[in-house]
Amino acid sequence: MNISSRTSDIREPDAHVELPTGVLTGEHVAESVRTIADIADCFHDRAAADAADPAQLAYRVQRHAPVPEGTAGGLMFGATFLQPGRVGDEYLMTRGHFHAKRDAGEYYWHIAGQGMLVMMDEARHCWAVWLRNNALVYVPGRTAHRMVNTGAEPLVAGACWPADAGHDYDAIASHGFATRVRCIDNEPRLVADTE
Ligand code: F6R
Ligand code: ZN
Repeated sequence: MNISSRTSDIREPDAHVELPTGVLTGEHVAESVRTIADIADCFHDRAAADAADPAQLAYRVQRHAPVPEGTAGGLMFGATFLQPGRVGDEYLMTRGHFHAKRDAGEYYWHIAGQGMLVMMDEARHCWAVWLRNNALVYVPGRTAHRMVNTGAEPLVAGACWPADAGHDYDAIASHGFATRVRCIDNEPRLVADTE
């Protein structure tokens, strides 16, 4: 047995995840930033959205993309850092999306802070799962998903999804989610969008 040839291709990982914080560092890691201006149209209280500072940070997303987006069979790994706060009585949230490849699922897991993952199927039936206490949440295919921060600290969650899932933001931009998470009597409540 040629031991040296068997040990000659031991590599360093190209990236690291700091498990307590979710922070990604290394190769193939990119970051995007969304401000209040980027999510202003998500809130039902447009006057409150217009009164908010448009430049205020809403959330950051770090993505480790080891293969080009769209690669069949590949995976993407991400971390979302969602600020606490409200616009009117509605908690800060991510824009939310269906996957363009509708049957693509995704894993989310809670890292820090407290909030919910709100999901909506294609019949606009909505439900939410708490993102707290190290929750692991599976998002089935054909299900829109959005993080909502109901706590006082940044809500941090990891995610892993197929590299060819793609993101369809238009369906949510046009019709929103059927359910909102609003602060009522100092508690987060799911409220139908019509109320
Ligand atoms: C990827 C995914 C997350 C989100 C992130 C930001 O499929 O679900 O990485 O992209 O939480 O939310 P959006 O993309 O809705 O602005
Ligand atoms: Zn997704």
